[in-house]
Amino acid sequence: MSRLDAAPPGPAEPVLWVDGREVDPRGPHLSALDRGFTLADGLFETMRVYDGVVFRLDRHLARLAHGARRLDLTLPTGLEAQLAAALSAAVARGRADASLRITVSRGVGAPGLAPPTGGAGAAGAAVTLVIAVHPLPRFAPSLYSSGLSAILASGRRNERAMTAGLKTLAYVDAIAALAEAQAAGADEALFLDTEGHLSEATASNLFAVLDGVLLTPPLSCAALPGITRAAVLELAEEHGIEHGEHVLNPGDLHAASEAFLTSSVREVVPLVRIGARPIGDGDRGPVTRSVIDAYAALVRGECARLAAR
Ligand SMILES: Cc1ncc(COP(=O)(O)O)c(C=O)c1O
Repeated sequence: MSRLDAAPPGPAEPVLWVDGREVDPRGPHLSALDRGFTLADGLFETMRVYDGVVFRLDRHLARLAHGARRLDLTLPTGLEAQLAAALSAAVARGRADASLRITVSRGVGAPGLAPPTGGAGAAGAAVTLVIAVHPLPRFAPSLYSSGLSAILASGRRNERAMTAGLKTLAYVDAIAALAEAQAAGADEALFLDTEGHLSEATASNLFAVLDGVLLTPPLSCAALPGITRAAVLELAEEHGIEHGEHVLNPGDLHAASEAFLTSSVREVVPLVRIGARPIGDGDRGPVTRSVIDAYAALVRGECARLAAR
């Protein structure tokens, strides 16, 4: 087991809601004909819950709604109420610090690819909605101090894909890249896009410090519009760290003094090595450290304000 998927402490079972009611996590829950299962025809969001409060829930729901519009998938009415119910059930069971995943699929469908026109997923019809509140993975503290290593994945992200930038259920490419990384003794894999520019990691966005400037690939390089990525760009602005979105090449990582990855659950993690080559001096650098601290303060502040409402 790698440092990235260490078993969470306590009961591993999620608090699970399917189509508006709590279910036994041992299942079964879904139809074997659900298009999420047969075709990955759906979307998801993974959020982090801090002391019972979801960080930037509104942004996650906006990204989900954007994806749903692009895929012509009607989100269930009452999604937010179901989310609130699931979250309070989880908090009541001592799961106030957690990861929360919403999965929406186009529901049960006949064989074939064509989206149903009058059935599941069509306007007004029921899609499948799963809300799962999981215990947080137990990341080794050394991840945040010593950082992680990555390889470049052998496959590419396609910035021209119809679903580029959407958080669809299709993650098999990312799983294959992660397996490749693990086989090479690395923690993570970075994807290039079809033009050979750096895109992102398997499930996190990439930042690098070049000549003192904090840079991240633009969304046009097939990077997901990460909620944490956006928060880090805001923090850089606020803290006077020179920053921007910039097309980056693999060689830029060799020239970078620092790099880090961002995602909701893992937050801000130093990236210190690509293959056998250290990034900078192979240690967590000062910009990364200040972004980690600033992000922690942002999360604390926003969640405390929401909890006090
Ligand atoms: C492909 C991909 N990129 C980036 C991210 C980071 O996004 P966020 O900061 O919204 O969690 C994720 C999150 O799961 C992801 O799956």
